Amino acid sequence: MSNPQKILLSGVKPTGRPHIGNYFGALKQFVDLQDEYESFIMIADYHALTSTADATVLRQDILDVAIDYLAIGLDPEKVVIFQQSAVPEHTELAWIFNCLTTMPYLARAHAYKDALAKNKEVNVGVFTYPLLMAADILLYDADVVPVGLDQKQHVEIARDTAEKFNRAFGEIFKLPEALVFDQVKTVIGLDGQKMSKSYRNTIPLFADERELKQLVMSIVTDSKGEKEPKNPEECNVFALHRFFSAKDLSDLKRRYVNGEIGYRESKEILFNNMNEYLAPLREKRRGIATDPGRVVEILRHGSEKARARASAKMETVRRAVGVSLR
Ligand code: ADP
Ligand code: TRP
Repeated sequence: MSNPQKILLSGVKPTGRPHIGNYFGALKQFVDLQDEYESFIMIADYHALTSTADATVLRQDILDVAIDYLAIGLDPEKVVIFQQSAVPEHTELAWIFNCLTTMPYLARAHAYKDALAKNKEVNVGVFTYPLLMAADILLYDADVVPVGLDQKQHVEIARDTAEKFNRAFGEIFKLPEALVFDQVKTVIGLDGQKMSKSYRNTIPLFADERELKQLVMSIVTDSKGEKEPKNPEECNVFALHRFFSAKDLSDLKRRYVNGEIGYRESKEILFNNMNEYLAPLREKRRGIATDPGRVVEILRHGSEKARARASAKMETVRRAVGVSLR
């Protein structure tokens, strides 16, 4: 159903090649929803700066995300595709949120707790990350924020922050909602843990055929022989069939349970189905990457549009908090 007045905002960090977990957890939703909402899709480059200190790599990663967005089918005529850092109002609003939020509240955020638990040296950016994300969302009066399950808490923090601001300064911000697709939840990686760049267990969305095959064949399984009955619910290969082998799923399930399929064959079927699904995206990406000038132009144009929206909102905010003398 068309609902053009509702606003969607989301984005990903430019931190390396996207994987199929990012695709099913987040990216695909951006494309599926682009006709239904007025969409703002950003490249969260200042968020990436919490974990990167290499300008050459970051520059390339930003351009790559823009190419990825176009390759999966985001239409720049319908969607505002933009770079977070090109709209300085995001960091400006984040500062105001810093002043409104208590340390103990932010200390409860999962991402921060995980970083502490891993004994990482946590920079201040990691700690206030959710407030920059709240600014990203609230500046555009977003109604919905499609994200993977692990980002849901961040959207809840944005919502709490909007409520807190509104209580203090008047009704300025809309309360956003996370859109997490139930059927997706978490895509697992080659080793059975959540697929994540930080676990090095990913299948890159744009991997070429050879890499794809090699990765699929390396998915970890138990050592059951070809003729032994297997539990599809406990199989890492089957978990990925759910995303790529809809047409074969009931047949595969039956063969697993009856001991009529070995892991090798199951992986071969998975590779073929995956390759069929991903090859057109890969081809499209290759074409787009030949004209980086056009991609930069799309980003520039999108960032201009986003900035117009954000700066108008920021005017209201400055007035509400009292720094604007007009
Ligand atoms: P990574 O864990 O590989 O660093 P990010 O944290 O950059 O991935 O995630 C980008 C987006 O993709 C987020 O919306 C996140 O929720 C989603 N996402 C990441 N990994 C998965 C996964 N394994 N399953 C589902 N969604 C995921
Ligand atoms: N934190 C998100 C991630 O790691 C990326 C992000 C930054 C984002 N700002 C956002 C997602 C605003 C949705 C809305 O994937």
